[in-house]
Amino acid sequence: MSSTTAFGIDIGGSGIKGAPVDLKAGELATDRLRIPTPQPSTPDAVAETVRELIESFDIAAGVPVGVPFPAVIQHGVAKTAANVDHSWIGTDVDALFTERTGHDVFVVNDADAAGIAEMEFGAGRDAKGVVLMTTLGTGVGTALFVDGHLVPNTELGHIPLHGDSAEKYMAESVREREELDWSQWAERLQEYYSLIEFLFNPDLIIVGGGVSKHHKKYLPELDLRAPIVPAELRNEAGIIGAAVLARHAEDETRAAAGGNGRKKSGLAADKAQAKLEKSAKKGDKKADKKARKNDKKAEKKTEKNSAKKSTSKD
Ligand code: BGC
Repeated sequence: MSSTTAFGIDIGGSGIKGAPVDLKAGELATDRLRIPTPQPSTPDAVAETVRELIESFDIAAGVPVGVPFPAVIQHGVAKTAANVDHSWIGTDVDALFTERTGHDVFVVNDADAAGIAEMEFGAGRDAKGVVLMTTLGTGVGTALFVDGHLVPNTELGHIPLHGDSAEKYMAESVREREELDWSQWAERLQEYYSLIEFLFNPDLIIVGGGVSKHHKKYLPELDLRAPIVPAELRNEAGIIGAAVLARHAEDETRAAAGGNGRKKSGLAADKAQAKLEKSAKKGDKKADKKARKNDKKAEKKTEKNSAKKSTSKD
């Protein structure tokens, strides 16, 4: 596969879906495959399913894999678990999946991934200034861009509203659970987006998540200063965005290791740096182990020699 390809995997509550992504066209290169999410969805069980999924495709060894994940992801490590098994907190997801699959895996917050895809290929394509992507689903995810640069892990779905995380008041899952009609839900969205607008003054707001396909039922009811538009990539945004990021990060890692190639900034560069540091640490550990082995050998040799000497003296 060429460097215009990467693999994307979406980890959902009920299914894990993956497909190769055509990074030029900004779409899946083939149909995606879906495997039910193991229950409980612990890191180990999910890593196994991810391995199985990747192995079902005939993808070349060097193809990087991008994984959108619904948590704060800092340098590959999950720091929160609002809507996933709590055993993920503290897990180095990059390292776990990379080790299990044999591919370079780059994990990124799911809303950040969807935002990257919208900025490259969708509703944010020509947008300048401050753009806020929001995903309305089980929880509410956000991705904030300033002149095309991502500010990762913004987590604005958790800003306080009515004394709790905003997502507990206005997520799509809340609309379903409380059987709100579209207007009732739009009122809650109005409160939320007004607060967002007060805090960040975005130039553009993009609304993603499955419910964005019904945008005509609630977006026209909102009265905001910034234009608020539906996402264009819909379901595949996370997979596509994570694949874009994985390819950038992989190219960056190679360029840094080989000392040539183009420079990229932002999250991809940050992830590439983290990966290099990790592999350097791994290398250090190996070297330490070797040195300890050699020391032991040398010690044994000296012991033997002095034993020989003392026997010959006796
Ligand atoms: C999580 C975010 C995630 C969002 C959408 C929130 O509950 O805290 O990390 O992006 O849900 O899945």
